[in-house]
Amino acid sequence: MTLPGHPFLSLHDRHLQLEGHALDALARQFGTPLYVYSRNAMRAQVRSYEAALAGRPHLLCYAMKANSSLAVLQTFAEAGCGFDIVSGGELQRVLAAGGQPGRVVFSGVGKTRDEMRLALDAGVRCFNVESEAELLVLADVASAAGRRAPVSLRVNPDVDAGTHPYISTGLKGNKFGIAHERALAVYAQARALPGVEVVGIDCHIGSQITSASPYLDALDRLLDLVDALASEGIELQHIDLGGGLGITYTDEEPPSPEALVRQMLERIDARGHGHREVLLEPGRSLVGNAGVLLAEVLYLKPGEDKSFCIVDAAMNDLMRPAMYQAWMRIEPCHRHDGTPRTWDVVGPVCESGDWLGRDRRLVVQPGDVLAVLSAGAYGMTMASNYNTRPRAAEVMVDGDRVHLIRERETVPQLLAGERLIG
Ligand code: LLP
Repeated sequence: MTLPGHPFLSLHDRHLQLEGHALDALARQFGTPLYVYSRNAMRAQVRSYEAALAGRPHLLCYAMKANSSLAVLQTFAEAGCGFDIVSGGELQRVLAAGGQPGRVVFSGVGKTRDEMRLALDAGVRCFNVESEAELLVLADVASAAGRRAPVSLRVNPDVDAGTHPYISTGLKGNKFGIAHERALAVYAQARALPGVEVVGIDCHIGSQITSASPYLDALDRLLDLVDALASEGIELQHIDLGGGLGITYTDEEPPSPEALVRQMLERIDARGHGHREVLLEPGRSLVGNAGVLLAEVLYLKPGEDKSFCIVDAAMNDLMRPAMYQAWMRIEPCHRHDGTPRTWDVVGPVCESGDWLGRDRRLVVQPGDVLAVLSAGAYGMTMASNYNTRPRAAEVMVDGDRVHLIRERETVPQLLAGERLIG
């Protein structure tokens, strides 16, 4: 039976399973904290995007900041995806995983000259340029290397956040993108620079967006610019609408990727731009619900005001609750009979902010394994070594196969680059 409210987990004989693998058995085999991902869940999400994009020029660039483990990148490369990167390090990961640099777009407000050079040498598809200053530096770096950098300007569409509180990166006052009203002038400037070649336009209005309307507002703003540029003789090859589609953590009801993209494409067609290549940069919606974080219950600390369930995963393993007060669903991997009690599920890190879930009704005992759901995105990539805690291992299930895709980090690895003085 499927786990109610979750697209990929199932319950079998009171055991939580991913692709038919009991999560508590995986926790025993590989230890905890442990990230477990479903490869077929990732593939299914790609298919949902591709279903709507079929038959027209497009490139789905997985925003790898969501989860950049090599086997995850390999999965998306094999599914035909390109990548949205934000650093030279991410580019090196794409190459190590067998991804094609010609399918990479390079985003980010603070690219360094070294990173630009690395990306030019690798032959990335496009630089998403976020400021006039960056444009000039990129033109300079490319000219010095005897190249022309393919460029898209990231436009800040200033879409109304009043009704859409989550779309905070697409507003005036954010550090991202070039102001909509400056865009035409910057395109004219770009066209005159010998080191760059104008190829596209892009925007990214935020993350965990749960309705189509802000996308359509931003799209309209972008198409206004594409029209204005065309009338000045600047023809863009592609339109990149960024990422940001939300997933269900609790009771959110975002459109499916397919439904969202269909609406976007209808608008693009209606405005006469159906011939242009469409790029998208989804992250969370491709991996978020494909992953869980498993933790073992170490101690129970019932109290008068608050009762604490202390587990062996912490804020260093999964930052989202501590950093954004994010609500992430927590389920026992094996359901016992008993009277549930309200627990704060917390980790061993020495901070009161170290919690994974507050006020959760659970039947738990020490030794149980809990799963934090929807942890496939912005989990492992945001993990740190705070409190000298080695980072978790990662496992990918794929049908009847189980792959350890990242070994558990060791303390000697953490100390390896450090030096005593003397
Ligand atoms: N493209 C650009 C330029 C981005 O900045 C981002 C995310 C994406 C694509 C992918 O967005 P997605 O489809 O994953 O929403 N750490 C936060 C999320 C930060 C998102 C940053 N930018 C979290 O855990 O909720």
